[in-house]
Amino acid sequence: MIEIIDLAYVRVGAANLEESALFATETIGLQEVRREDNRIYVRGDERDHDICYVQGGVDKHVVAFEVADDKALESGIKDLESAGVSVQRGSDEEKKDRRVLDFFRFSDPTGNNFEIVIRPQKSARRYFPTRDAGINEFSHVGLKTTNAPRDENFWTTNFNIRPNDWIGDAGLLSFDSVHHRIALFPADKPGIQHINFQVDSIDDIMRSYYYLSEKQVHIVFGPGRHVTSGAMFLYYEGPDGMIYEFSHGVRIIDDPNYRPRQFPFTPEAFCAWGAKPDIPEFRD
Ligand SMILES: [Fe+2]
Repeated sequence: MIEIIDLAYVRVGAANLEESALFATETIGLQEVRREDNRIYVRGDERDHDICYVQGGVDKHVVAFEVADDKALESGIKDLESAGVSVQRGSDEEKKDRRVLDFFRFSDPTGNNFEIVIRPQKSARRYFPTRDAGINEFSHVGLKTTNAPRDENFWTTNFNIRPNDWIGDAGLLSFDSVHHRIALFPADKPGIQHINFQVDSIDDIMRSYYYLSEKQVHIVFGPGRHVTSGAMFLYYEGPDGMIYEFSHGVRIIDDPNYRPRQFPFTPEAFCAWGAKPDIPEFRD
């Protein structure tokens, strides 16, 4: 069993790095950290970086999780290999690029790419945003899955991950008390489905709603409130069709007797206020 303790970063393939970096800073409100070769790093919290944009397409998408130490890393490699999962260690150059002490990579049954890292660096300076979007944390990712029950089983068997609710087949999964850290959405191919940042208040969500609308950013869902996690949300589309989400008020599950709930795959189950998603993976 691999014990994940945190989300570390995502790597996102970008057709046009400049365009993605400009959207990240001026539209989302992230801070550009550095540029190296064909990579641009941005952040919205205390991490060294939350997103690393790399030149390329969806096959470059990666989600990284942190484990506690080298013992957890080594036993994670053994556990996955004995479960028949192909694992590859990161090179020194790749570790340097990611600002981690060590890592290995693997893919889930759908073909999504993951990295398990130890000791990802924190920034030595506080997050200084490009615009005041109220971002306080990179909090979860939505993933595409070609078979949600199969992939959910992959996560719950090999990792300290459990479902906290389902919308249809879409599992809202977590490794800690936050309602969801990974959400698996049925689709016909792999890829990151959305990237979530928490913001300080509903005022930040509504301020961004008007700000993004004025900039003619495609709002794809919201403002609304998730029935499952209770979080208020706003989803919008960036370059390469990548969906970003701001949310506030995600449920913290501290009841040891909490049981996951099954909801129907309907717009009503996605939004308590009645917003309708313009997101293919959120619709039948
Ligand atoms: Fe989300």
